[in-house]
Amino acid sequence: MSKSTRLDPKENNPKNLPIYLHKAKLVQAVKDSPFLVITGETGSGKTTQLPKYLHQAGFCKDGKIGITQPRRVAAITVAQRVAHEMQCTLGREVGYQVRFDDCTSESTEVKYMTDGCLLREILADPILPQYSVVILDEVHERSLNTDILLGLLKKRFSNPAKAPKGRASPMKVVVMSATLETDKLSAFLGDCPVFAIPGRMFPVTSTFGFAVGPKDFESTGYMKEVVKVALDVHTSEMAGDILVFLTGQSEIERACDMLYEKAESIDYRYDVQDQTVEGLLILPLYGSMPTDQQRQIFQPPPPGIRKCVVATNIAATSLTIDGIKYIIDSGFVKQLNHNSRVGMDILEVVPISKSEAQQRAGRAGRTSAGKCFRIYNKEFWEKCMPEYTVPEIQRTSLTAVILTLKCLGVHDVIRFPYPDCPEERFILEALKQLYQFDAIDRRGRVTRLGELMVEFPLHPGLTRALLKAASLGCQDLLLPVAAMLSVENIFIRPGHPEKQKEADQQHKALAAKSGSMNDFATLLSVFQSCQSSDRPSEWCKDHWVHWRALKSAFSVETQLRDILLRLQQKRDFPEETFDGNKSELFRRCLCSGYFTNVARRSIGKVFCTMDGHGSMVHIHPASSLFDQEGELNWIIFHDVLVTSRMYVRTACPIRYEWVKDLLPKLHEVDVYELSSVAREEVTEEEMKKWESREAAKRPAEVSTEDIM
Ligand code: CDP
Ligand code: MG
Repeated sequence: MSKSTRLDPKENNPKNLPIYLHKAKLVQAVKDSPFLVITGETGSGKTTQLPKYLHQAGFCKDGKIGITQPRRVAAITVAQRVAHEMQCTLGREVGYQVRFDDCTSESTEVKYMTDGCLLREILADPILPQYSVVILDEVHERSLNTDILLGLLKKRFSNPAKAPKGRASPMKVVVMSATLETDKLSAFLGDCPVFAIPGRMFPVTSTFGFAVGPKDFESTGYMKEVVKVALDVHTSEMAGDILVFLTGQSEIERACDMLYEKAESIDYRYDVQDQTVEGLLILPLYGSMPTDQQRQIFQPPPPGIRKCVVATNIAATSLTIDGIKYIIDSGFVKQLNHNSRVGMDILEVVPISKSEAQQRAGRAGRTSAGKCFRIYNKEFWEKCMPEYTVPEIQRTSLTAVILTLKCLGVHDVIRFPYPDCPEERFILEALKQLYQFDAIDRRGRVTRLGELMVEFPLHPGLTRALLKAASLGCQDLLLPVAAMLSVENIFIRPGHPEKQKEADQQHKALAAKSGSMNDFATLLSVFQSCQSSDRPSEWCKDHWVHWRALKSAFSVETQLRDILLRLQQKRDFPEETFDGNKSELFRRCLCSGYFTNVARRSIGKVFCTMDGHGSMVHIHPASSLFDQEGELNWIIFHDVLVTSRMYVRTACPIRYEWVKDLLPKLHEVDVYELSSVAREEVTEEEMKKWESREAAKRPAEVSTEDIM
């Protein structure tokens, strides 16, 4: 290994972490059992140290050590840290892989990755021959992919007697969690041993505020309060760093701006009570931040300076920042929830659970006693905050995972060993959607199209549109759009009203340049204009577009193109022809994936969705369709933003004829039909009987062409 980077002796010494005392016993415990549950307080060193210990103990002789994380930022920053500790270049012995970003090589032995990545690897080879140990980390977060991985690994590796053939050595599975749900986990994994790392927590006193009560549920007034409390803490509390919990990037950036402004006007001679504190260092922390900035978060502040990290929930368990003594808890989190009003997953700001609030507070007590300032009042705590956070599997769309399971040969998706069963209606909803996209047939079996769809790390609807375009030979229209929809925040929204006006004008001009009032076409046009520009970063600056987002979009597009090329070369890829103009071709391709998101003009500017929910939606002011009158009768849209109203963003006008034949698919299938197949493994013969019985029941409803 390269010795070029040395650990700074002043830096946190990993030998001081609670886990260090248990190194030998932990390694032995992994050796002794195919499955092991490890629990320990956040910050005890599980994520960064255990893989290193196993590496030192020679576990990499027969394969890699793979560690999954629910969050991509955690996977990246932890890999950086471990590479640094092991004194090697990131991407060599220690690497990471997250969606659309692979930083590993032939020599990678310790690989951090998102849980979604491991799920894709299982799809490529279910026995995971390249790994000797798989560590599922942050299991308490109960992310959808981690829950599915738990079920799959249990199914495949829990019985060593029936170990899958083709592996050099038996697989070791380690499951790590920060909370006490370990008995349940151990029982789920066939009563496997549990190793608890004893840790010491210092007391944290929590106080409730006055500003936010049950009635302030939907306002964003809590942000101002958060800033006020942060400054109060800074001026009146003893030395020690602050960690603020807010919900998302734009909010965090705004809060940081407000803090900068106010902190500048503090007179340290008179206002700050602790004379050892001479300044405030404000650092934002959120998922899509550039990695070099994320690294700063972990560095200790210069002497006399108080660090104030303003973060999303990522700092609650995934990342531990040393030196935190004060927590400011907004009480809110951004969460993906299935919204039954619109039948889609929507990112919403919701109150956190009480257990989450306790976890947040606990971050102040790692190295000494701490304080947690909750800005909400006791009534909010009692009336608005649930006891526990509902696992993702019980609140989001299962469409993509169910397709993955089906492609892995798990036909009976209802009786799959889920750690917590999702409601049956969510499974049915997913089956229905897969059927609508032609990814499964009426028997619940994966179709040729479904096999192609599962290869793309995108929403099935978007994949469907992309595959349609590819079959028509016009993938160049859809690949950039799919890439642009996969990266966050393309358009810059400055806080200053004057600047915002300027940005709005530029964005309108970009939309006009694309030639049609179609937000998807705008995305395509921005992508192409920037790519063909001589100075792309300048181009972005001039047009108020995030250069970093565009750079990622270019890379994502290349990766999607590679997947597509591989599929086109390998298999009998569908081919179709079309004669019509380009704009129609483009929108028709979009329709084949977005026919589940069709809306028709109802009254005035209100549209009504056609998916059976009949929700009333408005066009978002940022859409190029916002000012359109007249012709706009039918639209498709990419997503919905729910505030006091439901707004559709990224939309485009379509003609009814283009979806006429697709829309009936939204209503034709009775979900219970699909589920009765899903419930049991059906033999070919039984299936035939069932089909002929069904056909006799409803002769004219569905033609076999539709479903085969
Ligand atoms: O996984 P667990 O919560 O038990 O702890 P960890 O994430 O392994 O963190 C152990 C220590 O590593 C903490 O003191 C972190 O501050 C430090 N760490 C770091 O300095 N840089 C990172 N990118 C990640 C962790
Ligand atoms: Mg951890």
